Amino acid sequence: MVSIQRARRVFFRARLVALSEHLPHLRGAWFTAAVVALLAASIFSTASATPRLERQGSTMRLIVNDQPMLVLGGELGNSSASSAAYMAPYWPKLKQMNVNTVLAPVSWELIEPVEGRFVWTSLDQLLRDARAHDMKLVLLWFGAWKNSMSTYVPSWVKRDQARFPRVQLPNGQSTDILSAFSIATRDADARAFAALLNRIKEVDSKQSTVVMVQVENEIGMLPVAREYGAEANRLFAERVPAELMSHLDASRANRTGLHELWAEQGGKREGTWVEVFGEGDAAAEAFTAWHYSRFVEALVVAGKAAYPLPMFVNAALNRMNKAPGEYPSGGPLPHLLDVWKAGAPSLDLLAPDIYFPNFVDLAARFRRADNALFIPEANNADKPEVPANAFYAFGKLDAIGFSPFSIESIADRKPNPLADAYAVLRQLSPAILSAQGLARMSGFKPRILEDQTVLDMPVTEDIGGYRFTVSFIDPWMPEAQQSTATHGGLIIQTGPEDYLIAGQGIVVTARPIGPGPPLAGIDQAWEGTFDSQGRWLPGRLLNGDQTHQGRHVRLAPGNFQIQQVRFYRYR
Ligand code: DGJ
Repeated sequence: MVSIQRARRVFFRARLVALSEHLPHLRGAWFTAAVVALLAASIFSTASATPRLERQGSTMRLIVNDQPMLVLGGELGNSSASSAAYMAPYWPKLKQMNVNTVLAPVSWELIEPVEGRFVWTSLDQLLRDARAHDMKLVLLWFGAWKNSMSTYVPSWVKRDQARFPRVQLPNGQSTDILSAFSIATRDADARAFAALLNRIKEVDSKQSTVVMVQVENEIGMLPVAREYGAEANRLFAERVPAELMSHLDASRANRTGLHELWAEQGGKREGTWVEVFGEGDAAAEAFTAWHYSRFVEALVVAGKAAYPLPMFVNAALNRMNKAPGEYPSGGPLPHLLDVWKAGAPSLDLLAPDIYFPNFVDLAARFRRADNALFIPEANNADKPEVPANAFYAFGKLDAIGFSPFSIESIADRKPNPLADAYAVLRQLSPAILSAQGLARMSGFKPRILEDQTVLDMPVTEDIGGYRFTVSFIDPWMPEAQQSTATHGGLIIQTGPEDYLIAGQGIVVTARPIGPGPPLAGIDQAWEGTFDSQGRWLPGRLLNGDQTHQGRHVRLAPGNFQIQQVRFYRYR
């Protein structure tokens, strides 16, 4: 054992020497330290622990095979993963697109067609295909609910309405949604979910191909704010559970919509749902959220007892000025995050599916001290603003992962801005991972409002000893030819005066902050790439027209790239 450790130390020292010889242009001491730490982890680790979330500074990072990992993901269309033959041509294309993680459904109807008899053929094939293409998987459990409805449950559940009751509407009519108040439904769903996690443990705990699991999909009640069956009505007349009241009290500082509503209704410490949250849909929605979250908690507890992978739920976000029920009521929505935190404390993350244009505002609401950001559906993959949103999510909001929907549908496209953006983000992953949660990095893109208005005025932020102003309108191209909604990037501090600046369609100027000479200049700016070992391969030394004679750093529209820039101060 001692000699193995000595051999490792010798090897590690030799790797360090070799690495330093390859790094003449990598001048950021912090970045070097991060690469060395990653390398050391890979050399000294023996067994791989279960994927998990670990805190770094103000956020959490996903740790897989004992290494931090950034999910450059893509979610498959709903039916694609049910056929390996259908998927076969897409795997290599997704690999070429620099996707490192595929988000793929596993449905209850496919794995438990007969009660108690599990069929793992499709899951096992999915694992084989992902591994063959060196991809990780996030599995999406399409169980009792998928987009509010219950269409993915097995026939033996669909056809047994007495055992698995459906939601009743105010007029007594049934719907294609299973009731959240049925213990039989919850237990059957939890048994299948636990069997899934158990199978993943059996066949994947050594490799950790599966890195996270989504529980159900876009839960939420339609077309009314709550259920109206006998059990739902009985519980709605009861008091709000004490656990929820005390969680809301303890989390007042979060000031979600529900906290505000509660305060408007007098901030009562106890009472029925209507007494605490008022008459109308808001009380009904909070009640729905509570019971959905309790149902999910039962699945998460059962699943984690089998294999404790990180687990999350995803939200179908609500449009402004729509009533609960017009959108899926009671899901893990921004105004209900604390109901879900209280009701499902074993969940690791509450995640937004963002299809609305106001990405910047919506994503920020899911980046909290008690909730790291993971975006399982970051709009349809072919939307032009998606690549810039990825830079923003990782740079500004320390996202664990970003995953546009229906990824396979754009796999063939040329040019492919998402593939180009992921190529850059893949190269930057070690630098991003080492900066997450530590206030050494930020992301930039124009805010877009829900009505599509693009606010593309410059944004100013302090990172380390410099104040950066990032503009989204390129000065060297006619403005009419620019689509600033697609512009964006990130800045990472890698040393006292060293920064990686990446993205497209941004122009960056800097001013020093704090005591010392008040003006900033560019010492040197290099374009370049990182190779698969994390070594910087410099391209052109940028100066003259490329930096407007030292006035700015420019990442031209239409070309995702990385520049390594050292600033200096003068008076
Ligand atoms: C959101 C859902 O979560 C997905 O499964 C899919 O149905 C998309 N909507 C379609 O836009």
